[in-house]
Amino acid sequence: MRDRPDERNGGRGRWIVVERAATHNLRDVCVEIPKEALTVFTGVSGSGKSSLALDTVAAEAQRLVNDSYPSFVRNRLPHTAQPDVQRIDGLTFTVLIDQRRFTGNARSTVATATDIAPLLRLIFSRVGEPSAGYSPAYSFNDPSGMCPDCEGLGVVQDVDLDALLDLDRSIDEGPVRFPAFRPGTYRWKRFAYSGLFDRSKPLRDYTEQEMRDFLFADQMKLPAPDPRFPKTARFDGVVTRMRDVYIRNPPRSKSKETEEAMHRVITTRTCPLCGGARLNQAALASLIDGRSIADWTALSVDRLHDLLTDLRDHRVAPALSEARRRLEALRSVGLGYLTLDRVSSTLSGGEAQRVKIIRYLGSPLSSVTYVFDEPSSGLHPHDVRRLTELLLRLRDAANTVLVVEHHPQVIALADHVVDLGPGAGRQGGGILFEGTAAEP
Ligand SMILES: Nc1ncnc2c1ncn2[C@@H]1O[C@H](COP(=O)(O)OP(=O)(O)O)[C@@H](O)[C@H]1O
Ligand SMILES: [Mg+2]
Ligand SMILES: [Zn+2]
Repeated sequence: MRDRPDERNGGRGRWIVVERAATHNLRDVCVEIPKEALTVFTGVSGSGKSSLALDTVAAEAQRLVNDSYPSFVRNRLPHTAQPDVQRIDGLTFTVLIDQRRFTGNARSTVATATDIAPLLRLIFSRVGEPSAGYSPAYSFNDPSGMCPDCEGLGVVQDVDLDALLDLDRSIDEGPVRFPAFRPGTYRWKRFAYSGLFDRSKPLRDYTEQEMRDFLFADQMKLPAPDPRFPKTARFDGVVTRMRDVYIRNPPRSKSKETEEAMHRVITTRTCPLCGGARLNQAALASLIDGRSIADWTALSVDRLHDLLTDLRDHRVAPALSEARRRLEALRSVGLGYLTLDRVSSTLSGGEAQRVKIIRYLGSPLSSVTYVFDEPSSGLHPHDVRRLTELLLRLRDAANTVLVVEHHPQVIALADHVVDLGPGAGRQGGGILFEGTAAEP
């Protein structure tokens, strides 16, 4: 067992002091949490571990940060629940590393989320042959590197005409299988009043020119519109409108019906130009030992690590060794099977949490408080040991690490334990024990 943290650090001011926390089921809890140490919060499920570590300590730290912004910024921040606590002393900048999955953005991959991507780009810009230019020329999130057809997404979406159209119907009968183009809607009226089409003729009988206008007209000036067609408006075909409204700028909130219809008529396929690699041809043509940067990120972490170990090039030695260090860290939390091009939002909660740890491992900041919620859950037993190594590395970089956890292996390493209970809900919320793990 290590020395008590107050002895290691020379006493006073080295504690986070929580006075009278009553968030959720907590019963006016007062605790002292040592800084620059690993503290584990234990207790039965529902006893109040998360309520104390996340919803009180981390939430209060967040509230203090938010309060330091001017109100016009504050009003734009996501609303976080107020902790119920009289006072907390000794808080430092706090990072919550929870099991919430990454949200949305297809431009965030394991490589970008772990900050390995910039290292690989640097390596290619220096030693790739032929060079595509500076680092951004190898980024699918930068205009100078992204594939022009898919804009760096690797996939293209388009309208499936077979699903969209009923060729046996005329405009009056509603030939477009999509809610916004139903007879009577304002979009339908644009077609009905355009003066371009015979409203009672089935689409099947349209001439080639009529069909082209019906589908693909783009801001067309109408020769002879119906008087009910808006005076200054131009005419767009169905596909032009669909691409603009439902593919390029998909509505944030939409009815269930529209959502189902979009699902039915909008198809996603691999970008034919880049083959899903997201990068433009100059970036893809730049090779190291026969491989492009896209080939690298398509390898598993394990294989890329081996490849970088064999690659010795003094021009990029520091970037190589930092990339290897991060790949080792990913491996050491049991993520060696992932590829760096995996989209972050497709990771499970447990995988996402471990990826977030890697990002902070390289952080030059110290005196940060890291709060983890049950990081061992979903881990293979032998990966728990590797996880604990990462927690200790964070601590040894002069950070405060708080972990909600009941895994004995993690508890055994704790410098300090806070045990909540005795029961769950209203039967819990009290402190049963505080001290070093060896004491109880
Ligand atoms: N947002 C909330 N609002 C009200 N009660 C909550 C909320 N979150 C948790 N609780 C309640 O507080 C108690 C402790 O929950 P929690 O701190 O999540 O326990 P643990 O992390 O130890 O499993 C439980 O009874 C739970 O139902
Ligand atoms: Mg919990
Ligand atoms: Zn592409």
